[in-house]
Amino acid sequence: MKYLVANWKMNQIDFISWQDEFLKNFDNANFKDIKIILCPNSTELAKINDNKIDEFLLGAQDVSRHLDGPFTGQISAKILKNKNVQFCLLGHSEIRAEGETNETVLQKAARLDTEQIEKILCIGESQKVLEKGERNEFLKNQLESFFKSNHKPAFIAYEPIWAIGTGIAANTDSIKDSVDIISKFIKNYFDFSIPILYGGSVSSENIKEIVSITGIEGCLVGNASLDSKEFANIATKI
Ligand code: PGA
Repeated sequence: MKYLVANWKMNQIDFISWQDEFLKNFDNANFKDIKIILCPNSTELAKINDNKIDEFLLGAQDVSRHLDGPFTGQISAKILKNKNVQFCLLGHSEIRAEGETNETVLQKAARLDTEQIEKILCIGESQKVLEKGERNEFLKNQLESFFKSNHKPAFIAYEPIWAIGTGIAANTDSIKDSVDIISKFIKNYFDFSIPILYGGSVSSENIKEIVSITGIEGCLVGNASLDSKEFANIATKI
């Protein structure tokens, strides 16, 4: 089984035509070997829930660390659940860049657990951390903070920040090194494995090479998922 997560970030798409175009171009219409999770902007969740085919799974991009109440602009795990959201990204670097800490990520994880929404934990180092040779420590810290509180994500998305939205994905050796670090670390904590996804400038050109890396079970796709034809090409080639 392979996994694809579409992260539409703060972009609005015309979902009905996106879905039509995807289905026209996807070459494996029975979805037998692939699970696809769509993560639209929160304002689009209801519309997509009402119109999507059953094979698409629904994900959110973020959740509030609060239960409910006066938190303008935020969305609670309970509201997500009411919209039939099954997955939620957690710790995406674009949200960490706005001030989210490992501690906040844990609070959000607890809210999602209460509503039984599956977590897609995003981790990844910056260019600076990479250049300083501190990637191992950095990834381990992000994972340790999460695992020691006994939260189990459905997926770990390894997304090197320097590869996100740049058009230049990490090379296979670099992804392999990170997958090794992450899978060894998972083994220390759990007696089961957690699927690892790669994210950062994934396209129909590089998808095959990326998913051929041992330990990579799918991808998180930003930019290239906005174009449903390109996303269908990715899904076909995976
Ligand atoms: P990208 O984004 O595919 O546009 O690099 C990936 C992500 O941020 O999840």
